[in-house]
Amino acid sequence: MERPRLSPLILALDTSDLDEARKVAGSLEGLVDVVKVGLQLFSSAGTGALESLRGDGFEVFLDLKLMDIPNTVSSAILALCDLEPFMLTLHAMGGQEMMRAAEAAVRDHCRRGEIRRPMLIGVTVLTSMDLLALRKIGVSDSVEGQVERLAKLAKDSGMDGLVTSPLETLKVRRSVGPDMTLVTPGVRFEGDSRDDQKRVSTPADALRAGADFLVVGRPLYRAVDPRSVASEMLRSIGGGRP
Ligand code: C5P
Repeated sequence: MERPRLSPLILALDTSDLDEARKVAGSLEGLVDVVKVGLQLFSSAGTGALESLRGDGFEVFLDLKLMDIPNTVSSAILALCDLEPFMLTLHAMGGQEMMRAAEAAVRDHCRRGEIRRPMLIGVTVLTSMDLLALRKIGVSDSVEGQVERLAKLAKDSGMDGLVTSPLETLKVRRSVGPDMTLVTPGVRFEGDSRDDQKRVSTPADALRAGADFLVVGRPLYRAVDPRSVASEMLRSIGGGRP
C-alpha cells in the first residue's frame, strides 16, 4: 500500500470538545499530520469529528478498539471506512476469525468504492491490565507472552500494525518483523511528568525500539507552547520524518 511520508508524532485528542480538539490540532499544523480520535471524542462529536479534522487537513487515527462477532465488526467497520480514517483499531482478543472477516470486508469495500483502505491496527493487552487481571479472565500466560501471542495472531490475520507500549515495542518488533506498523503511546522526555503512565519512553528510545508512530497527548495539549514541545520532540529524533 502506497503511504505518504507523515510526521511520526500523532496527537491524541483526549477531549469531548471538538472545538478544543481542532484548536490544539491546528496549533500543531506542519508538525503533526495524524490526530487520534478515541472513544471520548467520537462518542460526543460523532462522525462529524472526522469530517471536521479531515477538512482541517489532518489524517485521523480512529481508535475505537472494535471487538464483537465477526459479522458485526465487519459490517460496522465499513461505515467507518467511508470516513476515510488513516488508521483504525481492533482488539486482537476478538480472535482470528473477527480480524480476518474485518480485513476482507474492508479490502473489498474500499476497492469497490474506490476509497483509500485504512490501516488496520491490532490492540493486544490493554496497559491497564496486569498479571492478576489476566488471571481473572482466565489467561494463564504472562502479560508479555499474551502480548506476543496476540501480536503474531494479528499479523497472521491481516492486520497492518499494532499498538505497543514502550515496554513491548522492541520484543514485538523482533517477533513480527519489519513490515508491521508499530504505534507507541506513553512518550515523555526524561524528567517530564509521567501523568498516569506507568511505562514511558523518550521519543528517541521508542523509535530505536522499532516504533513507527508515537502517540502523544498531555505533553502536547497541556503545554504552554505545544509547538515548541512538538518541535523539540521531532528534533530529538533527528528531524522526524521517517
Ligand atoms: O496523554 P498521554 O500522552 O499519556 O496520552 C497517550 C494516549 O495514548 C492516550 O490517548 C491514551 O489513551 C493512549 N494509550 C495509552 N496507552 C496504551 C494505549 C493507548 O496511553 N496502551
